[in-house]
This record gives sequence, structure tokens and C-alpha cells, in this order.
Amino acid sequence: MKISIIGAGYVGLVTGACLAFRGHRITCVDKKPEVVKAINTMRSPLHEPGLEDILRQAGQRGYLQAQTEIKSAVIDADVVIIAVGTPSCDQGIDLSHVLDCAREIGTALKEKQDYCVVAVKSTVVPTTTGTAVRAALEAGSGRKAGEFGLAMNPEFLREGNAVEDFMYPDRIVIGGFDQQSFSVMEKVYAGFDAPIVRVDLATAEMIKYASNALLAVLISYSNEIASICEAAGKIDVRDVLEAVTLDKRFNPRVQGELVNPGLISYLRAGCGFGGSCFPKDLSALAAFSRGRGYEPRILEAVLRINHDQPHKVTSALQRRLGSLDGRKIAVLGLSFKPGTDDVRETPSLPIITDFLAAKAEVVGVDPYACDNMSRIISPQENLTFTRDWKAALQGAEAAVLVTPWPEYMEISGETFRSLMKNVLIMDCRRVLNREPLEALGCQYLGIGLNIDEGLGDHG
Ligand code: UDX
Repeated sequence: MKISIIGAGYVGLVTGACLAFRGHRITCVDKKPEVVKAINTMRSPLHEPGLEDILRQAGQRGYLQAQTEIKSAVIDADVVIIAVGTPSCDQGIDLSHVLDCAREIGTALKEKQDYCVVAVKSTVVPTTTGTAVRAALEAGSGRKAGEFGLAMNPEFLREGNAVEDFMYPDRIVIGGFDQQSFSVMEKVYAGFDAPIVRVDLATAEMIKYASNALLAVLISYSNEIASICEAAGKIDVRDVLEAVTLDKRFNPRVQGELVNPGLISYLRAGCGFGGSCFPKDLSALAAFSRGRGYEPRILEAVLRINHDQPHKVTSALQRRLGSLDGRKIAVLGLSFKPGTDDVRETPSLPIITDFLAAKAEVVGVDPYACDNMSRIISPQENLTFTRDWKAALQGAEAAVLVTPWPEYMEISGETFRSLMKNVLIMDCRRVLNREPLEALGCQYLGIGLNIDEGLGDHG
């Protein structure tokens, strides 16, 4: 099939490259000439494992090309997929890119003879596709939905695993305006080994939000249990949640082996969730819900807990060290999770901001995210970024593990001791082994364990 994808960001490009790899003829459209140039020279404009490889293979077969202009891409296509951004705004999400794009697609449809389905892949709040997007397409084209097809096809791509998630989906959700829209969209995914969930447009939109909200609930639930453990004292949230997730309803045994479903990895205490989806999607769903007259209580609590969680870190260090004025602190990890250079909504930002307010000397370390981080918080007198964790730990009085990159989880107690001036390790992800560190005389502070205690209180 001929498929045009509007927006070659993270979602659009992964979708385009994977569908081209599957044998469709793909045109990616993006306003940014540098993105178009990168795609046409078979380079990935963004860091995502495996993407450049499939982009090259698809490009070499002539199945993938890019351009800046929408009109010819629409006129030529059987399916047009909208994959532009929906950033947060005061009212929830900013739909202007989606609607501008829908209007332009509509205008192009006016000159198109053949039937074509327009599918929204951008994350939009329920009813958007069937109302605002439909209206923009109808206004632009002078045709009624039905004369062209309309679908909503949400993505479930994790950064760092997006290619694999696309190629081996657990479900393909298709919201369709009518039977013909479904039939065409099913052809897009012919050959994928996954159940197709056929629903109406608004249900498809809601499925995306409900999926992300559930995962975020698990994280904030874990952090609430962590706070209760901290308040109680001498209860380690890690022991608690590990035992909770041995419940066979979460973690069944098959042929004697625990399945360890991915879901239980969201049931861990930490310094909060981040990234381009969870914070934005939860806020948007909450705003949508309020706009429809229902006050969302769980979503609000999840967001509040997530907001507060990183702010615990500075006060915990102050309780141990006293004033942080002029004291060097190494922040290990800047990206919102390992395996990506993405710093959007990363918990390391509020943590660093709090340290700077307490006049600490902060060194942020990350293997990939230093450049992106310097764009959201400029290096300054008391703040530097480096990829070199040894240099960051040298002479530091505290090391704060924020992003569990494997290389930071492997730093030994001996290494911490040999480099740091005062060996206080704050484990914001509960991924380090406390006992060997303490046996070497390192002080260990863990979220959901002992961050509420004063020096020497815990045993
Ligand atoms: C998420 C959804 O998982 C994906 O299905 C959706 O389409 C886009 O949003 P992504 O933002 O890449 O993808 O993040 P994910 O890997 O789910 O991480 C989100 C947050 O959960 C991060 O803050 C991360 O630290 C946390 N997380 C992630 C966990 O707590 N445990 C994990 O196992 C993975």
C-alpha cells in the first residue's frame, strides 16, 4: 500500500520505517528540511535502537522516502497517518499541529480522486478524531467523512524499544469511522502477528490514555507505599513490593518458572516517572475528565505523588549532611529512564534545581543526555554536566543515583570510596545493594527505606 505519514518525529518515523520494512511504500512528511535530508540519506535523525538499520534497509529497497510537502504525499496515498506532536498546554493538550495538518490534508483530498483513509496516530483526547479532526478534514476537502475514511490508531511504543514494540505488537487498536476505514487499516497491519482490537474512534483514543494511566498508577502506588514505609521506619519498600508481586495473579509460574511480566517492573519505588508520555497524558486525561464534569481523583493523586517524589531527595540529603552550601553532589543519570537521551519531564531536573537552590555544587552525569539536559537547564557556576562518572564522583560528598543506567549500578563500594570525599550514596531507584556498601563504610540512603531518618538512626 502507499502510506504517507505526516510528522517524522519519534512516532511517525518509527511507524514509517517499520511499515516500509514490512513492504509498504512510505512517504514521510516533515516540516524540518534536516529531518527530511537525514531520512533520504538513510540516517536516523533521532537515537532509537535498531531504527537506522531498518531505515537503511527500507531506503535501499526504495520503500521509504521523505519530503517537506504534504499535498503530493496525500494525493498519492491509500492511507495518510497523522503523527504530529500534541504538546501539553494549560487546557490539556495543544491540538493545533494535528488540526493544521488535518486541514492541509483536507485541502489536498479535494484534488484526489481515489478513496483514502486518514488515520490519527497522535495521542489525542477522546472524541477529538470524530469531531475536530473530522471537521477539519471535511472543511478542507468539501467532502463528508465516509467519502474518505477516518481512523484512530494509537501507538504503544516505548522509547528505547520502539522498533521492537512496533514490529511485535501485543495488540493493534483500530478505531474506525466505518467498515471501509476498518478494512483499509487492517490491510496496513496484514502480516502482523497480534490481535486487532476494533472499536469506535473515541474508544481507541481512550484505550491509549487508559493504558498509560494504569502504568503511571502503578508507579505512584509504589511511591506512596514507599512513603508509608519511610514514615513507619525500618520497613523496606523493596522487600514489601517484591513480596507483593510474587502473588501469582501478578506473576504466575509456568513450568516452575516465574513469568516476571513487564508490568511488575512498574511496581517499584523510585523518584517518579517522566518522559514524553506519562506526565503529559495523565494531565491531558485529567483535564479532559474535568472538562466533562467528572473530577478525576486517582489521576490527580498519581500526578501529585509524582510531583512530590523528586523533591524528597534534597531534604533527605540535608538531614544527613546539614547545609549543602558549596558541597559537591554527583547526580548519576539525567535521562528520564535508561536507554534514551530524552530528558523530557525527567525527575533529575527538579532534583538538580533543588540542589542548586540549596547552593550545592552539582555535577550531572549521563552517557547520552548531557547535551539535551544543557538545553533545559544551562550549565552555570554551580552546575556542570559530564559523561565521565569518575570525574563527577571525585571529591563529591554525595552521589545521587537518579537514572539506573547499568554502568552506574555496577559501581562498586570500593570505587565510591576511592573517589568520594564523603561516601553518602542516595539510591533513588533502589537498584544498589545496600549491605556490601554499608559493610565498606559507605552511608546508604534509599527511597522507601531510610530517607526520613537522621544520621545513625537505622539499623
Ligand atoms: C510509554 C508507554 O510505556 C508506551 O506504551 C506509550 O505508548 C508511550 O509512553 P515511554 O514513555 O517510552 O513509553 O516509557 P516507559 O518505558 O513506559 O517509561 C515511562 C516511565 O515509567 C518512566 O519514568 C520509567 O522510568 C518508568 N518505568 C519504565 C518503570 O518504572 N518501570 C519500567 O519497567 C519501565
